[in-house]
Order: sequence, then structure tokens, then C-alpha cells
Amino acid sequence: MIRVDLTILVAITLAICHTASASAEPASSRQAELMYLLKHDCGSCHGMRLEGGLGPALNPQQLQPLSIETLSMTILHGRPGTPMPPWKPFLSQEEAWWLASQLKQGIQP
Ligand code: HEC
Repeated sequence: MIRVDLTILVAITLAICHTASASAEPASSRQAELMYLLKHDCGSCHGMRLEGGLGPALNPQQLQPLSIETLSMTILHGRPGTPMPPWKPFLSQEEAWWLASQLKQGIQP
């Protein structure tokens, strides 16, 4: 009996959290993880300071002509035919959007 109640409670909690996070930016702990990813994973191609390497620099001047939407699409789906891989298996749409907006603002991971 208790077990059933707990299962329902967990399901409800998950449903609420999911709805709440759909429109909000990532939780601050997740933001820290995303910054780590940006520095270590993206940085392996785009440079540790995102000033370019195998991939182009990801600074506000370079990204100026591209919208946040275009950037988050590139992050999620990659650029087929180039080394830019799709990050969809690791990032939600909101997380890709948040990363793109951070890049547009200019961040120093
Ligand atoms: C294996 C190498 C590699 C990794 C890892 C990588 N990228 Fe890229 N990325 C590239 C290359 C190469 C391009 C240029 C593609 C082209 O020629 O259009 C690119 C392009 C981009 C662009 C478009 C820039 C522009 O000026 O058009 C964005 C945004 C971007 N990457 C973000 C990221 C982010 C964010 C990550 C980490 C989550 C990441 N990349 C990881 C290689 C990589």
C-alpha cells in the first residue's frame, strides 16, 4: 500500500518538475554542468576559451549574424558533413537555447 502511494507521488512530482522546467532556464546546478561541457567538450574543437580551433570562434562578434534559434538548432543537430556533432542526445531544447544565448552574450567558460 505504501509502495503504491510512493509510486504515485513520484510520478506526480516528476510530472510537475517536467512542466515547470519546460519553459524555465536550467537549474543552477545544471547550468554549472553545461558550462563544464562548453569548456571541455565544445572547447576541444572551438578552443578552451572559445576563440576557435578546428571549429570557428564562438564569440558575440562571430555569432552576431546568427539568431539564438539558428545557434540552438546547430547545437542540437550539428552540421552534417562537418565535424560539428549533434548534441541532441545530451541536451534538451531549453539547454541548447540557454547555451546559445550565453554564447551570444559572450561568456568566458
Ligand atoms: C568535433 C569537433 C566539434 C565539437 C566537439 C563541437 N563543435 Fe561546434 N562546430 C565544429 C565545426 C567544425 C563547426 C563549423 C561547421 C561548419 O563548417 O559550418 C562548428 C560550428 C558550430 C557552431 C556554428 C558557428 C557558426 O559561426 O556558424 C556553433 C554555434 C557550435 N559549433 C557550437 C558548439 C557547441 C555549443 C558545442 C558543444 C556542445 C560544439 N559546437 C562542439 C566542430 C565541433
